[in-house]
Amino acid sequence: MQVIENFPLKNLNTFGVAANAAWYVDIRDEDDLQLLFAQDRWKDYPRLVLGGGSNMLFTADFSGLVVHVKIQGIRYEVKGDDVLVTAGGGIVWNDLVNYCVDHGFAGIENLSLIPGSVGAAPVQNIGAYGVEFQDIFHSCRAFEIASGRIRVFDKEDCGFSYRDSVFKSALKGLYIITEVSFKLSKIFKPELTYGAISDELQKRGISNPGIKDLSTVVSNIRVSKLPDPATIGNAGSFFKNPVIPEAQFLKLKSDFHEIVHFPADAGHIKISAGWLIEHCGWKGKVVGNTGTWKNQALVLVNHGNASGKEIYQFSESIIESVHAKFGILLEREVNII
Ligand code: EPU
Repeated sequence: MQVIENFPLKNLNTFGVAANAAWYVDIRDEDDLQLLFAQDRWKDYPRLVLGGGSNMLFTADFSGLVVHVKIQGIRYEVKGDDVLVTAGGGIVWNDLVNYCVDHGFAGIENLSLIPGSVGAAPVQNIGAYGVEFQDIFHSCRAFEIASGRIRVFDKEDCGFSYRDSVFKSALKGLYIITEVSFKLSKIFKPELTYGAISDELQKRGISNPGIKDLSTVVSNIRVSKLPDPATIGNAGSFFKNPVIPEAQFLKLKSDFHEIVHFPADAGHIKISAGWLIEHCGWKGKVVGNTGTWKNQALVLVNHGNASGKEIYQFSESIIESVHAKFGILLEREVNII
């Protein structure tokens, strides 16, 4: 383990924006974390834990220590029809999905092709196509920086909600997730509630899909709707879908009949942020080096040499216009650094 000074982060964030870290270190196992934080110097130093860099926007250089979690390894235990899969925090999320799909372990297939790392997935409770990370989560191991101890978090400890967890709120910055365990099954019960999945299966003439079919279909839907960060910098959905009180929704609906919405907790409605942004005229718009994606207005993109500041400014313009037209304040899903 080596702490490196003045390290470029452009290739370590999926927006592909230029930024430097004052200090940078690769972590290969929990012992590396023990060794690093045994040095008093780093204990209270400003730090940023980096996984796949798929949910952050650097608007400036980072003047602290970037801790890049690269812990590898996948293992599993089978008990009857249940499978407990455990993966290192540094594994690329989609590599884990492919591993499970290839082994016939069901439950994770709707989360195919989400960018990012295994260790980052619980932090924002990733989700797509009718499945949320919390649905398959069993537990995770996390290193407590202050004490140097490992703590095991079960589902209740994590306080999951829509794109949120304790790691983003009450315990923000205090732990580093080293390993995650998943509760999967050898029995496949396809989750087909998301309309586009059944449409795509029908198009392919598949009436009785297997795990692999579902994974392929989800991957194809993502590819058709979302830009590939390897060619066009982006961080997936830039904003959360806002959840508003039902009374506010009913008022909005009387002005905008076709507003796209989904059920949420009692008394609340989730509104499609992509629809709101599109209906403010932003869909596919290019502004300087940035813009929104032509097939999904919720995704902000780097068309080449955008700086993080430029993308941030652009997101401010979107927030202002959505607020002016619909009275809804969009909240960023992406972490701003
Ligand atoms: N829509 C528009 N215009 C747009 C985009 C969407 O009108 O530009 C409307 C359409 O009616 C569309 C509906 O909104 O059918 C839903 O769009 P989509 O299926 O793309 O889902 P989303 O609500 O925009 C969420 C997640 C995505 C996830 C998809 C699929 C959030 C913030 N985003 O997007 O997650 O892939 O559902 O389940 O919840 C991510 O978090 O980075 C991400 C990509």
